[in-house]
Amino acid sequence: MLVHLKKLVQKAEKGNYAIGAFNSFNLETTLGIARAAVKLKAPVIIQVSETTIVYAGLKPITHIVETIAKNEAVHVPVVLHLDHGKKFSSVAECIEAGFTSIMIDVSDLAFDENVKITKMAVDYAHKRDIWAQGELGKVIRDAKDIKKGEVREETMTNPKEAGKFVKGTGVDTLAVAIGNVHGIEKMINGVPQLDYKRLEEIKLQVGKIPLVLHGASGIGEKEIKKAIDLGVRIINIDTEIRLAFTDALRQSLIKYKSEIDPREIMEEPIQAVEALIEKKIKMFGSEGKG
Ligand code: G3H
Ligand code: 13P
Ligand code: ZN
Repeated sequence: MLVHLKKLVQKAEKGNYAIGAFNSFNLETTLGIARAAVKLKAPVIIQVSETTIVYAGLKPITHIVETIAKNEAVHVPVVLHLDHGKKFSSVAECIEAGFTSIMIDVSDLAFDENVKITKMAVDYAHKRDIWAQGELGKVIRDAKDIKKGEVREETMTNPKEAGKFVKGTGVDTLAVAIGNVHGIEKMINGVPQLDYKRLEEIKLQVGKIPLVLHGASGIGEKEIKKAIDLGVRIINIDTEIRLAFTDALRQSLIKYKSEIDPREIMEEPIQAVEALIEKKIKMFGSEGKG
């Protein structure tokens, strides 16, 4: 079933676990995520980025997630979330289209600008009873995301600013930069250490606001559990889903090299996504919580 985020996160807070926020691109990845959620009776966030919206179209991708949530995941809660909405207009369009949660990410801007635009998006979402996530500090993808003259430390979330940010914007959840990075590079060269001290300080400053860990592909179970203990309630996985899907698709194309029916070729990639999501749900402690 398609639901709003609030109750799911409140339940995760009480039970000290995190909800997986999984990026979907198409029908097949959505099916894989939903089937894992159903199998493990777990709440899930299915998230869509602006570039996926360009790829699939806003209405088609909304309807795919919505209809799978309503028909395939009948008895488990599914949230349809905008991942890294960079523009206020994306936030508004996604809410109008039927998304049940949004993120506004203008973390590239100076603090005051970030507060101003984030607050606008939060107010818009709250009027429509939707929870909104903001980002303070930058979850970078690679070295080019660090501006000239900027030190890596300076791109991370400043705990004192985090307190001011949540007060100034009214965000419901906060994405933090504590050494976590987006993308594939870490899967090749090693996952960076998370700064738990910073995470602890952020949590002290933001009080009951649940924290979101982006760039969580490749992060090990021990590190994930520690982050959950320190207040992380939502964990974003994208790259590992891409890898699971495309690796299985390559193998499937070789294995069934004379097959011309795309449905036959797609079955194993869907299963690969399902297996990965099951592993993550167990790691995040959300199995049986849906
Ligand atoms: O954190 C960002 C997500 O991984 C989305 O990336 O815009 O390439 O879909 P994308
Ligand atoms: P990864 O692609 O590194 O898993 O990051 C996912 C993410 O943060 C999506 O918002
Ligand atoms: Zn992210």
